[in-house]
Amino acid sequence: MGFLYRKLVRRLLFNFNPELMHDAAIKSARAMQHVGPLSAMVRFLARAKDFPVTVAGMKFRNPVGLAAGFDKNCEAARFLAGLGFGFLELGTVTLRPQPGNPRPRLFRLRENKAIINRMGFNNAGAWDAARSLEKLLPLPIPVGISVGKNADCSMEDASRNYLETLKVMYSYGDYFAVNISSPNTLQLRTLHSGEKLRRLVEPMLDFASGQKKAKPFFVKIAPDLEERDLESAAALAVEMGFGLIATNTTVSRSAVPAYWKSYEGGLSGTPLRALSNEVLGRTVVLVKGKVPVMGSGGISDGASALEKLKLGADLVQIYSGLIYEGPFLVKEILEYLDRHHWHPSHR
Ligand SMILES: Cc1cc2nc3c(=O)[nH]c(=O)nc-3n(C[C@H](O)[C@H](O)[C@H](O)COP(=O)(O)O)c2cc1C
Repeated sequence: MGFLYRKLVRRLLFNFNPELMHDAAIKSARAMQHVGPLSAMVRFLARAKDFPVTVAGMKFRNPVGLAAGFDKNCEAARFLAGLGFGFLELGTVTLRPQPGNPRPRLFRLRENKAIINRMGFNNAGAWDAARSLEKLLPLPIPVGISVGKNADCSMEDASRNYLETLKVMYSYGDYFAVNISSPNTLQLRTLHSGEKLRRLVEPMLDFASGQKKAKPFFVKIAPDLEERDLESAAALAVEMGFGLIATNTTVSRSAVPAYWKSYEGGLSGTPLRALSNEVLGRTVVLVKGKVPVMGSGGISDGASALEKLKLGADLVQIYSGLIYEGPFLVKEILEYLDRHHWHPSHR
């Protein structure tokens, strides 16, 4: 199936504008998830061996998840779950709807199997996402919800803005990802530094601990951090008990031709792999197994997924790989793990 996608479908889709194609894919998935026989066929084609893992108290049928940003409005979750993922991270959702940055804002770097995006948290807002999930839940796999900050909200009000988003979304997620690492919202990445991160996360953890069920939190970090920011984020994660997701997209262009330097935004896909793995490895060492770590960045096949699991990731996530390798990538990864006799206890 992956072969067919790469030879035929990708060739066709890549003739069109990337954002238009993405929107069309989400719209089709949204429609298909309500057609029983179609969804059943997709589930059948994508089925693979289970690799059950338990992370942060949640049970996953396998460790391969969808990364945030693919389904920003949480509208195609049921279809996406049928592609064999172990979990979905939906969003990033902001409190109020916002249009994001001006277009064009999504670029394919075909030769490098990469993407540059400066979407800027375009989304329909938390209430809309909640309404969508109301219709789609429950799903057979855990759902994470990524929360972010509205672009027009000042950094002083960031903490309140995140908290309000969390409150709207709380009953719909199995875990929450706090996105402080998008390069496309002004100053967002300054939230990595020690005290700022504490002031951001503390109210959310307090809110969660006051609910019937205290759900797990993960903070998604950038691959372009200063060592001291990574150290303080890891120390805080251990102290406060949240997990980390390493990493988001990079602002570096050192792994792609110089031509792309003039394109602002976050780079993802194959050229992010080495940098992201380096940060993942350092993160795993810093947290010493005391909190869970997810790996995201540059997974395009079984080998690149296994690499992150061997570096100590409890779970991994994919985005750009889906665009280049197609919707059956999860199955291909799981088959590779099986052929290489990977077992969750190897982590
Ligand atoms: C078009 C696009 C939009 C994205 N939007 C988000 C987002 O809203 N929130 C987020 O946390 N990450 C977002 N990401 C980052 C991905 O979740 C992922 O961490 C990153 O792309 C690295 O993984 P990859 O190399 O498998 O794509 C986005 C990535 C792309 C390509």
